[in-house]
Amino acid sequence: MNARITTRLLTFILACGACAFAAGAAGGPSVEKQPFGKAGDRDVDLYILTNSSGMVAKVMTYGATLTELDAPDRNGKLDDVVLGFDGIDGYLGKEPYFGATVGRVGNRIAKGRFTLDGKAYQLATNDGPNHLHGGTKGFDKVVWDARVATSHAGPAVLFSYLSKDGEEGYPGNCRVSVLYTLTDAGELRLDYTVTTDRDTPVNVTNHSYFNLGGAENGDILGDELTLFADRFTPVDATLIPTGELAPVAGTPMDFRRPTPIGAHIREVGGHPVGYDHNYVVNGQAGKLSPVAALYDPKSGREMDVSSTEPGVQFYSGNFLDGTITGKKGAVYRQYWALALETQHFPDSVNHANFPSYVLKAGDTYRSTTIYRFSAR
Ligand code: BGC
Repeated sequence: MNARITTRLLTFILACGACAFAAGAAGGPSVEKQPFGKAGDRDVDLYILTNSSGMVAKVMTYGATLTELDAPDRNGKLDDVVLGFDGIDGYLGKEPYFGATVGRVGNRIAKGRFTLDGKAYQLATNDGPNHLHGGTKGFDKVVWDARVATSHAGPAVLFSYLSKDGEEGYPGNCRVSVLYTLTDAGELRLDYTVTTDRDTPVNVTNHSYFNLGGAENGDILGDELTLFADRFTPVDATLIPTGELAPVAGTPMDFRRPTPIGAHIREVGGHPVGYDHNYVVNGQAGKLSPVAALYDPKSGREMDVSSTEPGVQFYSGNFLDGTITGKKGAVYRQYWALALETQHFPDSVNHANFPSYVLKAGDTYRSTTIYRFSAR
């Protein structure tokens, strides 16, 4: 069943995912729901959000995953600026979290171990010796509930998921929600809310791979990146932070001014070579602050990222190696896209000097990230 709804109507209707809606005026902001195949025995739905200027965001219930984002270039031409697959099958196979909501704890936990309230926990080690992005079946690999949401800002869909006590080894029943809003100001806004009945670490983020030139149009080495961060968290060979907060000044990590991503990438080291580091955002944690600005000189597209999170993982697509064929038959090679994962610092649960991401029973975790698109 397809449903097309204007956001104006949504202001008056308390919507639910399975309901049928009256058709709204063509051309205005809308949300459309389509079937997107199956994950095991669960149906997967795709929600298509269109704002008043024609920008489109597609998000599916499997992994609350952003599958497509059409943004205008300097001539107003729309192009899909995120990597992914044409159908559900690609997402069900081995793939590097394209567009997914990751958690319960995004990024790494050293050796999958932590101690909380005097109890030791051992999680899956699914990234060499470490735990990555919530484990073997994290938030990216489950089917979320979804319903069209009411928002004055633009078309919106609310995804929710109950992560049960003991899931992937984490303590506590967590109710997780992600509200995707495509605002009429050209922003993709993500609002996360989590509650728990036992203390537990929570670090939810989105894992979109951006290529502002278009997902099938070459690498991102010429894109100019600004990171509003004076410091980063150096890592060991397995990408676990040493605990130090090091200045970026005078190093290839310095993106305090717009700098082509390829300018110093060979000096960064790593296996494979490239950026895969958490930056310490200059702003005040908990307040929306500028995180990053990304500009593609060829298309003129610009993306400004702001967040309430204290850190951002800048990952330059180092592990993409041409073995994945994505949307429209594009082969995704190294540096084909970058991720800017707003989050708490990696392995925070084992570093007392990092901002804590432990959510206390009865408290509410709130986090917002905004990706604003423009062109010049
Ligand atoms: C990590 C990378 C990893 C990628 C895909 C990023 O968040 O930092 O090391 O390869 O996710 O799993």
